[in-house]
Amino acid sequence: MSSTDDAGKFGDYGGQYVPEVLMPAVEELEDAYERYVLDNEDGFMDDFRARLRDFGGRPTPLGRADNLSARYGVDVYLKREDLLHGGAHKLNNALGQVLLAKYMGKERIIAETGAGQHGTATAMAAAYLDMPCEIYMGRTDINRQRPNVFRMRTHGAEVNPVDVGSGTLKEATNEAMRDWATTVEDTHYVIGSVVGPHPFPTMVRDFQSVISEEARRQSEEQLGRLPEAVIACAGGGSNTMGAFHEFIGDDDVALYAVEAGGSGLGVEEGEEYAPNSASLGTGSVGVLHGAKTKLLQTGEGQIVESHSVSAGLDYAGVGPELANLVDEGRVTPVNVDDDAALAAFHRLSREEGIIPALESSHAVAYLEEYDGDGPVIVNVSGRGDKDLDTVIEESTERDLPEAPDMEVFRS
Ligand SMILES: Cc1ncc(COP(=O)(O)O)c(C=O)c1O
Repeated sequence: MSSTDDAGKFGDYGGQYVPEVLMPAVEELEDAYERYVLDNEDGFMDDFRARLRDFGGRPTPLGRADNLSARYGVDVYLKREDLLHGGAHKLNNALGQVLLAKYMGKERIIAETGAGQHGTATAMAAAYLDMPCEIYMGRTDINRQRPNVFRMRTHGAEVNPVDVGSGTLKEATNEAMRDWATTVEDTHYVIGSVVGPHPFPTMVRDFQSVISEEARRQSEEQLGRLPEAVIACAGGGSNTMGAFHEFIGDDDVALYAVEAGGSGLGVEEGEEYAPNSASLGTGSVGVLHGAKTKLLQTGEGQIVESHSVSAGLDYAGVGPELANLVDEGRVTPVNVDDDAALAAFHRLSREEGIIPALESSHAVAYLEEYDGDGPVIVNVSGRGDKDLDTVIEESTERDLPEAPDMEVFRS
């Protein structure tokens, strides 16, 4: 293993904790990131922004949620990433990285996926930019996310099942890194969140920052001021950093990262299991997937299996920049549990006519606890059509009062 002290550090977090064999890949990517993304070489960023507009449908609206505002006595505005092509913020990053791969002269795309959202966004971008694409996905996830597997295949991507371990995101990421180590000459690995070795956390944040760039401008134009707070859910933290980035210098704008409280906080040491995914608020420092960050782990440093009703938040780590912003007191980590997220899913659907992703429902749920005066911006990171089967099952199991009564239709 080698680690770099100066590259991509956020306080003590981040870095490049990768096997030697991956160093040429991350160094090449670092160089490309600096040239194309930071210096706009060959007009890369102009091309990216134009494609986000024409293919992605940006800008996404910032809309007032009238009924929620009345309910809470606070002006609530929703940043509608659910309206981005593909139905989630994931496309901002996937399109940026696949396009970057083209500019770098790469001929093949690989990615990992858990719930399948990043996989489908990458497959979509690869089809659009005519790049062959292979997605690593754990066998367990393949079995529980079949529609997304079909979506990826429909866009022409290969889906490579990963049978080791629990067959979920952690193992899929390991396999993708293994592939990349031997194919770096012609392959780019599209990481799906602000995680991994430098330059991924910074680069993914830069591709996602379009969310807060727009939200800040829209807030000034529509509200005549900046919001009092921005609220976003945090899994790996890419919609979070995207929604926060342009507000970080605005000390009066509070930033809330809402994690999955699952069915309880803490780590069950003997079981190597955490019934939550609240690494930012409750985790401890360790190294995962190439970066030092906050993790859910045992006292002995064994990364545990996490849990959330929302597959996209179900990850034992979190982006290093976000971990540092929490340590610095700039971002406040909070969490809501599975029940509260499900209730918020139904509340936004019924009161505003918007079906949010279960991930985004965590951000919406935090409004129940929010006690400021507003206005607040809630990032609706994605739409919830993908979650309908889970929501029907979980709402019935819990007998949720907010859920529609489906009993009458039972034959
Ligand atoms: C709609 C949506 N929101 C949020 C997330 C969590 O990812 P991140 O924390 O990187 O934004 C996911 C992940 O799949 C997602 O699909």
